[in-house]
Amino acid sequence: SCLFSLNRTRFPTEKLLMPSCKVFFADDPIKIVRAQRQYMFDEKGDQYLDCISNVAHVGHCHPEVVKAALKQMELLNTNSRFLHDSIVEYAKRLSATLPEKLSVCYFTNSGSEANDLALRLARQYRGHQDVITLDHAYHGHLSSLIEISPYKFRKGKDIKKEFVHVAPHPDTYRGKYREDHPDPASAYANEVKKIIEDAHNGGRKIAAFIAESMQSCGGQIIPPAGYFQKVAEYVHGAGGVFIADEVQVGFGRVGKHFWSFQMHGEDFVPDIVTMGKPIGNGHPMACVVTTREIAEAFSSSGMEYFNTYGGNPVSCAVGLTVLDIIENEDLQRNATRVGNYLTELLNKQKAKHTLIGDIRGFGLFIGIDLVKDQQKRTPATAEAQHVIYKMKEKRVLLSADGPHRNVLKIKPPMCFTEEDAEFMVEQLDGILTVLEEATGARTESMISAKTPCRAKMPNEAHSELLSDGCTDTKENPSKRNGLHADKLSLLSQRLKT
Ligand SMILES: Cc1ncc(COP(=O)(O)O)c(C=O)c1O
Repeated sequence: SCLFSLNRTRFPTEKLLMPSCKVFFADDPIKIVRAQRQYMFDEKGDQYLDCISNVAHVGHCHPEVVKAALKQMELLNTNSRFLHDSIVEYAKRLSATLPEKLSVCYFTNSGSEANDLALRLARQYRGHQDVITLDHAYHGHLSSLIEISPYKFRKGKDIKKEFVHVAPHPDTYRGKYREDHPDPASAYANEVKKIIEDAHNGGRKIAAFIAESMQSCGGQIIPPAGYFQKVAEYVHGAGGVFIADEVQVGFGRVGKHFWSFQMHGEDFVPDIVTMGKPIGNGHPMACVVTTREIAEAFSSSGMEYFNTYGGNPVSCAVGLTVLDIIENEDLQRNATRVGNYLTELLNKQKAKHTLIGDIRGFGLFIGIDLVKDQQKRTPATAEAQHVIYKMKEKRVLLSADGPHRNVLKIKPPMCFTEEDAEFMVEQLDGILTVLEEATGARTESMISAKTPCRAKMPNEAHSELLSDGCTDTKENPSKRNGLHADKLSLLSQRLKT
């Protein structure tokens, strides 16, 4: 009777379920039977601290979300061909969180559907076909999105399609242009410019550039300040649109801003924003928001867009409640406060453990980049896997991702507390200590002597962006995203966090 038995040989999940879906902790999976806030409970009643479920944005099984869904389900659930107040109310509330020009909403059921529709909107807009995507990006599981997700198509037998162009991901830790480059934002943006020129030379036309505002599966990558502005300029120049995928990183996760793209300043506004995961706190709901001009171009094709479940009254009731909770429980401020505190604790660990190469992130979106060698930044893939299994034994759920699967991803429900942060870091400290002793990793003094200083500012030209005060980062006396506190506050201001 136990479908997901812990003993997989007794009842292998592969027999009945999609074998290509890898469960968490595949060598020793866990069966979660209930969850509340940032805690999950297995069939034995053991409690786990959930550091990975960004979908359960306002907390697992939030009673108000449950109540709102139930109330609406008892009354009516239908589709958007009938007039209904809550879809209009939700669109109003959502667009109020976005820059003015992003004013037209399309509701879908998943992030993949949202991105697929975003591509259709972009392609219809000017009749162009090609898409520029970032290396290691993941944008969804539909055929149209596997094509633009190097994270997937590089692993399978699929080959890159001729209308897809892959730009280097703007990783200033391990990427092509690093923190010691005088202007990594321009350098990475120039790569996009070059792609556009090559495409034009080959007679191709760019419909869109798509990127997550911060790359999640790609290894918790934060693009350097100014990169998106420059890319948008080149893409617009080519007649294409900028699609910001906020499926993972939207809805206040970065703390100071509701949308992660807003970290780049008010002079950067994407043409299309896609949303999913946290929008419904686990209820299948997603959305695309775009400009009136793009929406009208899409309608002008004469083809209707209808989505049976997208924007149904239950989804809208859930979505509205999620927005209320983010506000009422001040979850953005919590993301900033707890995120800063966690980053501060992790940076202390970085000074102590040779295995930690980089700590980067904003709010409750943090990556711990594990390395075998501080100087070469060699990804510590096996070690990362070891750490997540050991953390699980300590009842902390983490995952490792990125192109080398060596980046510990932290993106917990937004009600994560400082005590949770302390507990998580304490467990990590213990595990890294034992691991380093076992593998004979080098000592603390050697790291600090050898670790390259990541504090170099990319470009003085960005200094005009440094003017805002940023109180949040003052809570963090240590290092953040590899930069010292004073540099950190500069970086944060540049990214307008
Ligand atoms: C950045 C990003 N975009 C889109 C998707 C696709 O969302 P969904 O799984 O809801 O279709 C995902 C899912 O992981 C994602 O991480």
